[in-house]
Amino acid sequence: AAIVEHSFNVENFVATKLCREQEITAVNGGLPGPTIGVKEGDTLVVHVFNKSPYGITIHWHGVFQLQSQWADGPSNVTQCAIPTGQSYTYRFNVTGQEGTLWWHSHVSWLRATVYGALIIQPKHGRSAYPFPKPHKEIPILLGEWWNANVVDVENEGLAAGIAPNISDAYTINGKPGDLYPCSENDMYKIKVERGRTYMLRIINAALNNQLFFKIANHTMTVVAIDASYTDPYETDVIVTAPGQTVDVLIKADQPVGSYYMAARPYVSVPLPTVIPFDNTTTRGIFAYEGSESNNPVMPTLPDFLDTPTAHKFYTNLTGLAGGPHWVPVPLDVDEHMFVTVGLSTEPCEEINATCPNGQRFSASMNNESFVFPQNASMLEAYYYGRVDGVYTTDFPDNPPIVFDYTNPSLSNVEPLIFAPKSTKVKKLKFNSTVEMVLQNTALQAAENHPIHIHGFNFHVLAQGFGNYDAVSDSTKFNLVNPQIRNTIAVPSGGWAVVRFQANNPGVWLVHCHLDVHLPVGMAMAFEVGNGPTPSSTLPPPPSDLPRC
Ligand code: C2O
Ligand code: CU
Repeated sequence: AAIVEHSFNVENFVATKLCREQEITAVNGGLPGPTIGVKEGDTLVVHVFNKSPYGITIHWHGVFQLQSQWADGPSNVTQCAIPTGQSYTYRFNVTGQEGTLWWHSHVSWLRATVYGALIIQPKHGRSAYPFPKPHKEIPILLGEWWNANVVDVENEGLAAGIAPNISDAYTINGKPGDLYPCSENDMYKIKVERGRTYMLRIINAALNNQLFFKIANHTMTVVAIDASYTDPYETDVIVTAPGQTVDVLIKADQPVGSYYMAARPYVSVPLPTVIPFDNTTTRGIFAYEGSESNNPVMPTLPDFLDTPTAHKFYTNLTGLAGGPHWVPVPLDVDEHMFVTVGLSTEPCEEINATCPNGQRFSASMNNESFVFPQNASMLEAYYYGRVDGVYTTDFPDNPPIVFDYTNPSLSNVEPLIFAPKSTKVKKLKFNSTVEMVLQNTALQAAENHPIHIHGFNFHVLAQGFGNYDAVSDSTKFNLVNPQIRNTIAVPSGGWAVVRFQANNPGVWLVHCHLDVHLPVGMAMAFEVGNGPTPSSTLPPPPSDLPRC
């Protein structure tokens, strides 16, 4: 195994987009930042030099961090931010997983511009894939762009007690494409050779939107999601939620020519006036060598409310059963949790400009609205046995009341609408198997919530609409070849059941990957105890870890 070393200069610079100049914070002057390539088993060493005006952390989204949880990166969970003018080196082994992951800042909304791909190749090279080796591999990072400073956008929203402003464009590898003003030349292009097969490693790095993605006239074969192989699945459209990745093979088998690839939001709520969003399209070019690039063919993207298409894609994927990449489903469950995810309302103490009606926008899991500890890291508190005043271990296994989540009459749901603020974790014994039913409450505006669990992959046993019914819905569990993910879009007015084994000691954040919901409380955490051996015990923090 090799040591792969990178330097990240996190710096502000002025980017010109959409007819104007905007100062942004990004890594090594690029948007997206550098693609990191490693082989399974390698050690990754990243020196982060923070020359930006903000405290920075980097999170390695989907990396297990076995024995290295100190490198996970969520601010005030595993470390405090690297202050302006200082540096810190992340160092960890990338073991037991391969595929497409990514890295992003885990402080405020900075991941809008501080992000990049993290590609883990099989130890024995690309011929070790469970599918034919593609001619070329291309990371496709879907993102969002604001004509504003994103940290200000977030803070203004939070101060006003409302959801922050929506973005001004979607992007492919940082470029909005020619449907946006002044962007004809700010468009991502791939050159392909006719007859060859390409692998697109698609990453949804957008802050707040699920996205449909399509290439005109070409079929894609999905071979992996969230760095977990799938049974090959053919489709002409994919959908991803923020945090998720999808690897597809695409054969350049059409007449020599130029084709658009395009992405635009899937919005899982029939009330665009309640949740405003940017109903626009980013596009790039998929051009055959030898083609003129005028008049590319444009794909017809699904309607932004096309839930049947999205649900079909999300639920039809299956994982591998058997073979070297098979991860069997753990069958004996130690912890059964039923967790509601939803938007809620926080009562305000005083009625004023930031709180006009005596209540403000918030979000919760099991009606607990998560607050990040101030000036403390949860992992550090746990490691040194000083959790008092930082967090409590009474995160509830069930919501405070059970009712019809899909048809709320606002009069009888007060206990679920006014979510108290807290910092609560669920304690788990090392190696216990956890099953979580995630129930999306349609309370307030309903959206899919992409719930991401740090440090673990989970099997997705079933997904559906309506209220989860323990008797009838558990008969739908796929215990043979379910898909494996690190982020699951819990459907609006519906549910998903995930299962994982807590074989990784530490304090792991669980949260909605919509940045509009994370800072207002749609999060919780697992505190996983040590196992019996040195290799299942959390080691001490690096001596230079940024403290709080
Ligand atoms: Cu991709 Cu906690 O994040
Ligand atoms: Cu959410």
